Amino acid sequence: MGIIETAVDTGSDAYRENREAMLKLVEELGRELKTAREERSDRARKRNAELGKLSVQQRLDRLLDPDSPWLEIAPLAARGMYEGDVHGAGSRAGIGVIHGREVVVLANDPMIKGGTVYPMGVKKTLRMQAIAMENHLPMVTLVDSGGAYLPLQSEIFPDIDDGGRIFYNQALMSKANIPQVTAVMGLCTAGGAYIPAMSDHVVHVSGTGAIFLGGPPLVKAATGEDVTAEDLGGAMVHCRDSGVSDYFAEDDADAMRIVRDIFLTIPANSKARVPCRAATDPLCDPSELYGIVPKSTTIGYDCREVIARIVDGSEFHEFKALYGPTLVCGWAWIHGYEVGILGNNGVLFSDSSLKATQFIQLCDRMGIPLVFLQNINGYIIGREYEQRGITKDGHKMVNAVATSTVPKFTVILGASFGAGNYGMCGRAYSPRFLWMWPNAKIGVMGGEQAAQVLISVKNDQFAREGQDPLPPEFEQSIKETIVEQADKDGNAYHSTANLWDDGIIDPVKTRDVLGLAISASLNAPLEGRKVGYGTFRM
Ligand code: COA
Repeated sequence: MGIIETAVDTGSDAYRENREAMLKLVEELGRELKTAREERSDRARKRNAELGKLSVQQRLDRLLDPDSPWLEIAPLAARGMYEGDVHGAGSRAGIGVIHGREVVVLANDPMIKGGTVYPMGVKKTLRMQAIAMENHLPMVTLVDSGGAYLPLQSEIFPDIDDGGRIFYNQALMSKANIPQVTAVMGLCTAGGAYIPAMSDHVVHVSGTGAIFLGGPPLVKAATGEDVTAEDLGGAMVHCRDSGVSDYFAEDDADAMRIVRDIFLTIPANSKARVPCRAATDPLCDPSELYGIVPKSTTIGYDCREVIARIVDGSEFHEFKALYGPTLVCGWAWIHGYEVGILGNNGVLFSDSSLKATQFIQLCDRMGIPLVFLQNINGYIIGREYEQRGITKDGHKMVNAVATSTVPKFTVILGASFGAGNYGMCGRAYSPRFLWMWPNAKIGVMGGEQAAQVLISVKNDQFAREGQDPLPPEFEQSIKETIVEQADKDGNAYHSTANLWDDGIIDPVKTRDVLGLAISASLNAPLEGRKVGYGTFRM
């Protein structure tokens, strides 16, 4: 097996400058993640302590196997939205390990507006359910939520991908034998009450946990009845009288112990088999990724230098190395799992698109997961390329990506523009997971190009109407506005806040994140897939 020979000069000025720039971004990411995990008001902390509740982190520590891997999902969802303090869209979520078994975990944070659910909180819950369903992973929910964040109720209620979808999915998950275990750890009102009700196993914490369709104030208003939360929907009511809950827990720690015990009784899936071998570290140092990636997404670089730092032994069996050179395709192993990698080395031409299509078909037939390393400005444009049929060749690639049946994983290393985002398995193409590096940019096109298009549309319009073109100072101001907007809307933080990805990751962690994700994906069977594609336009 060939080993990628690196051509990186770690003593060069460019390497040093790139490294400094990337390290700044990674430090900023570290600060953002810490804030999201830890910034809570004194009042909320005091209230949590008064009630004798554990923090979300303490709950997770007791729930998951000690020193086991934790793949956090969307920790910066809703960053900068609402009042700026709805960290992680009001919850922590990820894939953790209970008794050696991978599970999806979603934990409301009662210290963020009583754990109430904002629009982004609904989106995050639906994302976690999608992860559970696609990868056949059990789902544990630690509910501590006052239900809908009422000032924004119209944004989370009736539509197909709004709150109701969460409970609809729960019914489908139960039918599909995807176990759902829920711990009731706070007052779960209305929507919050349906999560445990729709689950397969319900643990209920005495004293602080309650389930009711309408809380005491609503009951008082509607019926005049005075009743405490505990008497209305506490652990004793639901474990002894109503049967809504299955297990009575003395406190948070006891609840986490019971959830763990439940997993001893649920039979584990046998994992799908993909070609594997013993894992080895990359020969090239992953920390050199910091110096390899140029500061600007407009500067190209050889993506083999990235591959060399994320795959086992830096070994890469390259496919069609001389054909379609703007897309690098080949086989490698990540943490022992064989994968087919597609990485951009420039814009996509007809030949690189056809190569991708063939490569995807090969991996799909062989049952080898696909990893897309996106750094793409789009498909080539211009008369010559249109005449040669770039649109139909790009279409074949997009068709193969959409219809292939093996698990797919996408990491956006830099640019993610236009149809290149689609062909390289952007979010709409349902990769099992998608991450961004902190330098990544995403959009229909870059700000400069968008400004250019808009200016020429305006000038064409003026020309048709016999008017003078835009004065240069006007053009400049349009350009600045559009570029500024594109930078704001197309950066990695905007993407992650909107849940267009599963998180921003430190480039050095790419290999480990991919390894955990591939492992989690293998809980869904690969056998019995129906390999087949739509009609390829020839
Ligand atoms: N919508 C918007 N904000 C809400 C809210 C809701 N449904 N429920 C609570 N909050 C806010 C509170 O205003 C408070 O905000 P602040 O931090 O800015 O002061 C914060 O969440 C914490 O609420 P608080 O009541 O102080 O905390 P608590 O731990 O004692 O109780 C709840 C938390 C959620 C149990 C309690 O607030 C409650 O019962 N809320 C109403 C739940 C409800 O009826 N929901 C209907 C949804 S369909």
